[in-house]
Amino acid sequence: MKILPGAGWAGLIRVLYAEQGTVLLLGATDSGKTTLARYIVDHFAARGLIATLIDSDIGQSSIGLPGTIAMRTFQKPEELGTFGPVTMFFIGGTNPALYIQRIIEGTRTMVRSAKRRGLKMIIVDTSGLVQGEVGKALKIEKILALQPSRIIALQRGRELEHILSHIEGISVSCLHLADNCTSRNRTARRRYREARFREYLGNAGEMVFLRGDVELLDGRRLARPDEQFKRGSVAGIYRGKATCALGLLLSCQDDWITIKTPLRSKNGITRIMVGDIDLSFLL
Ligand SMILES: Nc1ncnc2c1ncn2[C@@H]1O[C@H](COP(=O)(O)OP(=O)(O)OP(=O)(O)O)[C@@H](O)[C@H]1O
Ligand SMILES: [Mg+2]
Repeated sequence: MKILPGAGWAGLIRVLYAEQGTVLLLGATDSGKTTLARYIVDHFAARGLIATLIDSDIGQSSIGLPGTIAMRTFQKPEELGTFGPVTMFFIGGTNPALYIQRIIEGTRTMVRSAKRRGLKMIIVDTSGLVQGEVGKALKIEKILALQPSRIIALQRGRELEHILSHIEGISVSCLHLADNCTSRNRTARRRYREARFREYLGNAGEMVFLRGDVELLDGRRLARPDEQFKRGSVAGIYRGKATCALGLLLSCQDDWITIKTPLRSKNGITRIMVGDIDLSFLL
């Protein structure tokens, strides 16, 4: 896809070169956040500068998988849609309204880890959930938790004002939507998520974990706590606190758990967390 820079993008890039900080992209669904994130990453990488993208959109994930927050550092221009070396944080579902605290925790963990590694230009892409009290709470809490040096607000009209009016002491770049922004309907969004998982699970095999070796956690928001885990549910697989892979739950017995995953080694796996995403139709 050819990116056509919108009004103000060139000026924004100059500001970002000068500042090199943590920027958070804010905008409603289909406002061009991910496209602008890619444009910034490409600009930096093309000049031999490192840019780190943190993708906190758990629905239409661009660098990671749906249901996760992902971080990737770019040193040369690359397609965002292709899988690369990402750091993941498992959330467990694709609807941001249900996972506000976990999304904030995961994004903050990523930003902190990028800063600890000395990475300067950090771009945080977000979901399009901005409307209503839920959108407002999610974005304001996230901004307060991350303390970005700049917010890039992509607006059609004034749809972000209920959020921006509560933000003090952070620079805001307000941009209009690029002319060629197009929208995707729910079906296209669901198909995109499925395609990401299909690709990720392409070479997956079965892995058996002894219940005594791993802690099994219930990360679901949509199920009753006493409800059995469903076959085909997406699970996060952890080494220590880090999500090292995802998999599909195949069976959950008293003594063992079987997961379909592209992970190749069970070494150091401490935990498995089952979330709400049902991919049983892929089995
Ligand atoms: N500057 C641009 N040049 C070309 N295409 C664009 C541009 N901006 C947006 N688009 C197109 O518009 C659509 C929506 O853009 P994008 O996915 O970046 O929006 P988003 O705000 O990230 O959406 P979501 O909230 O779903 O994550 C995409 O198909 C994208 O290719
Ligand atoms: Mg996006």
